[in-house]
Amino acid sequence: MKLKKCLFLVAAPGSGKSTIAKRIEREFGFSHVSSGNILRAQVATGSKLGLQVERIIRDGTLVDDDLAMQVLEASLNEMDLSSFNGLLLDGIPRTLYQVQMFEKMYTSPDLVVNVDVPFFEIVQRLSNRLTHLPSGRVYNLDFEPPKVPGIDDVTGEELVLRSDDKPEVVTQRLENYEAITKPILDYYREKNLVHSFRGTETNVIWPEIQKFLSGHFLSK
Ligand code: AP5
Ligand code: MG
Repeated sequence: MKLKKCLFLVAAPGSGKSTIAKRIEREFGFSHVSSGNILRAQVATGSKLGLQVERIIRDGTLVDDDLAMQVLEASLNEMDLSSFNGLLLDGIPRTLYQVQMFEKMYTSPDLVVNVDVPFFEIVQRLSNRLTHLPSGRVYNLDFEPPKVPGIDDVTGEELVLRSDDKPEVVTQRLENYEAITKPILDYYREKNLVHSFRGTETNVIWPEIQKFLSGHFLSK
């Protein structure tokens, strides 16, 4: 597979990865792949594997590395990546082992974007998040509310509170991030590929990311 560009979004749960990814997709013509969305689609099939994945997600732990990479590979195989300006991965790779596997199977990223949001802000946000499960579109009662309460703006379907957005599960997910995912940033910092954006407001962080990516892609 020949990729024009490859960008990883590595940031804590609830930091706004998917919100920002949707904006990058729209603005820069990238194909956005969220591992959480692919795994939740697996759950929605009701298969035996889906039931296993559902339990893992509900507990706030991580699915097995090989399984995560298999679902990613299956999803990439279904896409025509040549029609996009690049690939944007949200939530994967999430362990150093997944990094190794991805690099072996595909490529090294051109950039790793990190959004650094304080954890107290995240716990607050996730209790206010509503998700349209089939598409992964997210809303927030304060930040980006749906036009009609409880209803997805695009399809008119129902929005739900994700099972892993309960405060105790969020705490578990944040602990996993610190211990298991954050070392990915150290690995890529040594290669000078990480760009961090710190703040509490996506609408303030986004113009900075937009400016940075415009400069980066236009200058290459
Ligand atoms: P995944 O779906 O990837 O979840 P996550 O990483 O925990 O991140 P979230 O999707 O919850 O948050 P986000 O950063 O996308 O933030 P969002 O844009 O929604 O993974 C779920 C599970 O799947 C994992 O726990 C694991 O079990 C499994 N999994 C996934 N990938 C895996 C892998 N590679 N290996 C193994 N297991 C894997 O924003 C959050 C909220 O904030 C939204 O409501 C948004 O509207 C709101 N918001 C954004 N900005 C603001 C603001 N300024 N003010 C107020 N609210 C705001
Ligand atoms: Mg997300």
